[in-house]
Amino acid sequence: MCPVQSFKISCFQSRKCLALSMHVQQMFPIMLGCRAQAHCVCCALIGFVRGTPLRSDWTASDSGNFSSLRPLCFCAVCCMSVIMATAGKVIKCKAAVAWGRGRPCRSKRWRWLRPKPTRSASSGDGDRRSRERAAFQLFATGICHTDSYTLSGSDPEGLFPVILGHEGAGTVESVGEGVTKFKAGDTVVPLYVPQCGDCKFCKNPKTNLCQKIRVTQGQGLMPDRTTRFTCQGKPVFHFMGCSTFSEYTVVVDISLAKVDEKAALDKVCLLGCGISTGYGAVLNTAKVEPGSTCAVFGLGALGLAVIMGCKEVGASRIIGVDINPDKFQKAKEFGATDLVNPKDHSRPIQEVLVEMTDGGLDYTFECVGNVAIMRAALEACHKGWGVSVIIGVAGAGQEISTRPFQLVTGRTWKGTAFGGWKSVESVPKLVDDYMNKKLKVDEFVTHTLPFDKINEGFELLHSGQSIRTVLNF
Ligand SMILES: NC(=O)c1ccc[n+]([C@@H]2O[C@H](COP(=O)([O-])OP(=O)(O)OC[C@H]3O[C@@H](n4cnc5c(N)ncnc54)[C@H](O)[C@@H]3O)[C@@H](O)[C@H]2O)c1
Ligand SMILES: [Zn+2]
Ligand SMILES: [Zn+2]
Repeated sequence: MCPVQSFKISCFQSRKCLALSMHVQQMFPIMLGCRAQAHCVCCALIGFVRGTPLRSDWTASDSGNFSSLRPLCFCAVCCMSVIMATAGKVIKCKAAVAWGRGRPCRSKRWRWLRPKPTRSASSGDGDRRSRERAAFQLFATGICHTDSYTLSGSDPEGLFPVILGHEGAGTVESVGEGVTKFKAGDTVVPLYVPQCGDCKFCKNPKTNLCQKIRVTQGQGLMPDRTTRFTCQGKPVFHFMGCSTFSEYTVVVDISLAKVDEKAALDKVCLLGCGISTGYGAVLNTAKVEPGSTCAVFGLGALGLAVIMGCKEVGASRIIGVDINPDKFQKAKEFGATDLVNPKDHSRPIQEVLVEMTDGGLDYTFECVGNVAIMRAALEACHKGWGVSVIIGVAGAGQEISTRPFQLVTGRTWKGTAFGGWKSVESVPKLVDDYMNKKLKVDEFVTHTLPFDKINEGFELLHSGQSIRTVLNF
């Protein structure tokens, strides 16, 4: 590790930096003006005595390895450290490593491997073939149901050991050789659906499913087929091209959106998945028209984001469906006009909804990940024009079914990944919409925890108590 690097600890809530001098044994934390001005205590003291402003320049060496980032401090200790620092050294940082499928978060093994400040993820390959990548420091990450799904072992693509997480926000630490769109210090949100702009998927306005790095991303690797993480001497896989359950991570540059630097990172991290997906399912995938009737199955973050979208486009009726009545109040606040608990009915829920809506709904959205509910959502659609959108991710090997007659008679079954957003160009706009108060984000955050309590965050999700838990590093 670069010796001077370790004194930089950022505190995103206050949007200030806490410069903590490791080389003076972590004894003298001081608050500085902004997170770009991270300097050691010696520099701060010299600056204070001399009345000179602190310098805020950071630089990366030409190897592009993020571990080679150096602050340009001017005290003797830092100068020595910079001279001693060499490219290719690794960053040791906090990371939550999932070691095996099907293990509950609270299992002994997981707990044993809870993030530890000084061991866990490390990066550093010194590999000049890995041109197009950016490394960045995470400031906050959300826990999505998809993380829990992979941790449970239901994901056919799930690989272990892995650093999960894909709803993050942070700042670029350094960029690889050849990366021109980002520089150190940029505020960014990682993207599990990239946008290269070159592949035939990117060039087709009908889809957002860029395939440029699909194969290696699915294998938990960077495009050069290596992993940038090691833990206890073992390679650790990347997850969805993001791996945000780590204080530092490395992504391909097409998997990164540069967003407004004033954005609250502990909120906009959620635009990296759940909120954008549900909202985009309404606007981009279903293209719901004003006056439509809609039903939303599952009232977690995804379902609430769908309700938000339906309300925005002027749906006349928005029926929320969930087996957990504790979810109803929030759904109402988001704009649900009716709330239905399938457990209150002896008949199949699709029959109940068809009766409530004089023949069925114009649009339905499945936000649970259950194939039986996917069928119910399709069959709750109106004959002739009803459209059902699958958002939930079902378990490995599961299949959907219905009578073909349902489709013959004019119902349409669709699905969406990341709400159909072309990610690199859309996420910055979604962040702007949030900052201009056009898009709700704060309302999704029910819990905020320090990163070390990641297992509690998973428990809150499983127990149905949380909509989104945000973990702060
Ligand atoms: N397509 C995508 O790009 C994408 C992106 C993110 C998440 N997802 C998936 O979306 C789904 C929802 O994610 P989330 O984070 O909102 O999850 P969540 O766990 O917060 O919410 C799921 C909700 O479904 C409800 N539910 C469970 N069983 C039900 C049933 N039988 N009938 C009605 N409601 C039921 C739960 O009570 C809960 O409120 C997950 O499957 C997730 O993997 C897909
Ligand atoms: Zn997600
Ligand atoms: Zn592409």
